[in-house]
Amino acid sequence: MEKFSEITKENKTFVYICNSDEVKEGKGFKITFEQDIDMQFAVFRIKNRLYCVSNICPHRHATKIFEGIIKGLTVTCPLHGWTYSLTTGENTNKQQGIKKLNKYEIFEENNLVFMEKPILKIPKWREDVPIETGKNPIFD
Ligand code: FES
Repeated sequence: MEKFSEITKENKTFVYICNSDEVKEGKGFKITFEQDIDMQFAVFRIKNRLYCVSNICPHRHATKIFEGIIKGLTVTCPLHGWTYSLTTGENTNKQQGIKKLNKYEIFEENNLVFMEKPILKIPKWREDVPIETGKNPIFD
């Protein structure tokens, strides 16, 4: 099966993103779609269950969630420590803010990993930031 090919399951569209062995227990894995720099996602395997969230931290837009620190079912952004639930995407410390990570359905079948087909939405903060050559200095 070709990467990023789509399948339908229970009336939903899913995308083949990687093989099961690429997502190691307790370690984040980054998936990048070509359409846009906002189309990147972090996949985690915790106690052999998969979780998928946006790779872009809503705090300062760093593309580092896949390098985050896992504790229980949370991931902490390595930059400034905002911590998110992997089951809901919500910030676990409301004093830090209410912005959350988008969360996506994910499953594996026959050693292939599929995520819910993401829909590109350019976030509001980017409206004022020129993006040239697909790179943005605010990221990373
Ligand atoms: S960019 Fe993630 S906590 Fe600041």
